[in-house]
Parts: sequence; structure tokens; C-alpha cells
Amino acid sequence: MMVESRTYFEAVAPQWDALRKGFFSDAVREKALDVAGVEPGRLAADIGAGSGFVTEGLLRRGLRVIAVDRSEAMLEEMRRKFGEGGAVDYLNGGAEALPLEDRSVDYAFANMCLHHVDSPPAAIREMARIVKPGGRLVITDLDRHNFEFLRTEHCDRWMGFDRPDVALWMSEAGLQDVQVDCAGENCCAASQSGDREAAVGIFVAWGIRRGHAHMRPGRVDNRHW
Ligand SMILES: C[S@@+](CC[C@H](N)C(=O)[O-])C[C@H]1O[C@@H](n2cnc3c(N)ncnc32)[C@H](O)[C@@H]1O
Repeated sequence: MMVESRTYFEAVAPQWDALRKGFFSDAVREKALDVAGVEPGRLAADIGAGSGFVTEGLLRRGLRVIAVDRSEAMLEEMRRKFGEGGAVDYLNGGAEALPLEDRSVDYAFANMCLHHVDSPPAAIREMARIVKPGGRLVITDLDRHNFEFLRTEHCDRWMGFDRPDVALWMSEAGLQDVQVDCAGENCCAASQSGDREAAVGIFVAWGIRRGHAHMRPGRVDNRHW
């Protein structure tokens, strides 16, 4: 029986750091922070923060972080690692309705969250909404693939993405100078039965929040994202 995504992440939260290391390396995070050009003292949001993979990199580079996740167990892991009352604020919330004000952060990051949300374009619109004009949104996620066991065993909602779709959604969300590139490595996972091994490309997509533009309404899309 397929486990529901929320149940899955609540259950794996204590082991997420170890699992994540098996899937991909710190280089993915460093690439994301590099394309954002993060500067110390600034404020970043880490959306679908999990146990704090991106948050940890941001703290090391001297930023303050608002970590958002809909899993209380993941947030608890982060509190244990980074403490309370310091440079990290923890918010329980969904990527498609972020509990953050418009234009309130300098950067927003989402690593491996997009393929779990119900509507990727809606989540991108939300993430763009919270970024200040001139700030950057950076998304690292999976290229389109056909490894069904990532859905059935890891509760992935989407089997990766075509890069032009992601670029389009980011442009439509009010971002300019959108670029999509290889993050430099694959996400690797073996099926529980051990007879299948996935190696899926990881992309990094980024764009700059337009200066004075208001959000444009999303285009009508008949693919039911
Ligand atoms: C694959 S994990 C990635 C965690 C972390 N970003 C990392 O790179 O290790 C996906 C995370 O997104 C969270 N998540 C899934 N769907 C979400 C949603 N709709 N809104 C907010 N968080 C979500 C899960 O609880 C989980 O912590």
C-alpha cells in the first residue's frame, strides 16, 4: 500500500539526514547558494526545509533563515540541530500557501520540495511572492524521469520536471532573468527490492524578483498541475 506523503516524512524525519546523503551530496546545496549569490546578514526562506539541509548551508554563510515545512517532525529535527531563539525561525506551513508576508525575504530556496507539492506552478508563485524585488528564488529538483518506485516508495508526487516548464512557471510568477542549469550531479536511489536503481539529473533554476511588478495571474493550463 502506498504511504501518504505527510505520513512518510513524519516517519523518516529522524533518519532524513542519513537518507539524504545517500541521494545527493552537499554540492547541490552549494550550487544553489552560489547561483543566488547569497550575502551574509540577509534573510532567506528555506521552503520544504526538511531537517535543514539548505538551512545549514545558509547559516554557515551568515544568513538568517525562515525554515518552512509542513512536517512537524522535520521542524523538530531542525530545532534540535539549530536551537530556538537564534538565526532560524521555524514555521509549519505548506508551499502553496506560505505563512509569510509578500516581499519579506531576500532569497527563497526549495530543494527537492517541488516534486512533492500538489501544484508546482502555484508553489512557485507563492515562493516568488515572498521574495523582495531584486531578491532571488532558487529551486533545485529532479529532471523528468520514469522511475515509478520513487512514487510508490518515496511518495514523490511528480516524476520530475521538464526544465522549460519550470522556467516558464518562474517567469509567469514574476521573476526575470530566469535560468535553468545542471546542478552537477544525479539523485541516486535504489528500490526496496534492490532490483532497480534510479539516477536522475538534478537541475538548478533561479530568477530575480521583478522590481515593481505585481504578480500576473497564472495562465490557464490544461495539464492539471
Ligand atoms: C525530499 S524532502 C527535502 C527536504 C530538504 N529540503 C532537503 O533537501 O533535505 C521534502 C520536504 O518537503 C516537505 N514538503 C512536502 N510537501 C510540502 C508542501 N506542500 N509544503 C511544505 N513542505 C512540504 C516534506 O515534509 C519534506 O520535509
